[in-house]
Amino acid sequence: MILLAIETSCDETAISVVKRVRGKQIRFESLSHKVLSQIDLHAQYGGVFPALAKREHTKAITQLIAEALEEADLLVERTNTYHIPNAERKKLDTLLEREPEMLAAMKVLFEGIQKPAIDAIAVTQGPGLEPALWVGINAALALHMLWDIPVYPINHMEGHIIAGLINVTDNVYEISDFDLPAVALLISGGHTELVHVPKLRSYKVIGKTRDDAVGEAFDKAARMLDLPYPGGPEISRLAEHARKEGIIVDEDLRLPRPMLHSGDLHFSFSGLKTAVLTRVKKRGTLDDRTKMMIALEFENAVTDVLVAKVKQALYETRASSLIVGGGVSANTHIRSALKRLAETEGFTLFIPNRNLSTDNGLMIASAGLLHLAEEEKPKVKIVANGSWSVGEC
Ligand code: KG4
Ligand code: ZN
Repeated sequence: MILLAIETSCDETAISVVKRVRGKQIRFESLSHKVLSQIDLHAQYGGVFPALAKREHTKAITQLIAEALEEADLLVERTNTYHIPNAERKKLDTLLEREPEMLAAMKVLFEGIQKPAIDAIAVTQGPGLEPALWVGINAALALHMLWDIPVYPINHMEGHIIAGLINVTDNVYEISDFDLPAVALLISGGHTELVHVPKLRSYKVIGKTRDDAVGEAFDKAARMLDLPYPGGPEISRLAEHARKEGIIVDEDLRLPRPMLHSGDLHFSFSGLKTAVLTRVKKRGTLDDRTKMMIALEFENAVTDVLVAKVKQALYETRASSLIVGGGVSANTHIRSALKRLAETEGFTLFIPNRNLSTDNGLMIASAGLLHLAEEEKPKVKIVANGSWSVGEC
């Protein structure tokens, strides 16, 4: 059983090819794992532009699929001349009429290589930037149309949850067993959510942000400190540096802990971002030490809020496991704070390896294998859903 996974919800074109290993447990080998980041391009503008993201995905995706197939040893070039039959060519023209560059590349691919030994395709349907999501969906549907491979639409946030459960040893990936019920903390550039997981593949959002997502707040605060996009890793680097130097944050640079005592499981990070702006403006000039203090205080404020809300969510749901996912879960300080909490509170913590924290194809592949294991029916019509909640997948 070989699965190809496609992820294009934001600014990474990611393709993975995995091979399921026999057994009851979901275990697989990664045959190819490609992540093409557009970060350098978006960094010039300080954030992700949907139209630009779509254009880049469109340019890159077919070549990336071919490279992934080759790396997985599944690419066999045709020795004879082959032309796509007229009826199929017309269908392909219609499917990809809005992505002419991808259409041209796909034709070359279909005419140049034989149908690869892929049994299924998993593709991100949402949430994310719709123009970007469409590229991955249309690529998947084109492969389905020409090669008759079934397609399974995947919720990106479910992918982040499953990535949190993955255990890796020597290129063998396994979805760990975990005690139920569980709580998932999803922290990414577009989402901040607490999700109740009463059983595998069952999700209920019990807390979320009222405004900015935590990753977005990191990115915006970083911009105010003249740090490049994406800001999360930059703030984290400065904060770590400040901790090592033993820097104490000046009183006038202290930041609020928004919603810490709200009594519910919701978040709000836009006030924190505004508070950073006020501090920056008041100081007038930003020297390195001031930047370090703000970065440290910002990271501490976010961590305090996340830890408190997680603790409350675990208490309210009587959960025995915490699954963390999303790009911000790569943050060292947040990771250690959650590890400490797990030790004092006695729950099991599942947190992804750093390379599986940010967007990638393996998270979509592993969720896809889970859907297949449940004998879910594939889809022939898939519509990008930019705001698809994990609670409805
Ligand atoms: O999950 P992800 O790759 O994409 C979305 O689905 O949004 O998350 C990207 C977010 C960005 O906001 C980025 O700044 C943040 O994750 N991020 C971090 C770190 N690494 C990535 N935030 C804090 N600390 C990090 N080390
Ligand atoms: Zn993501």
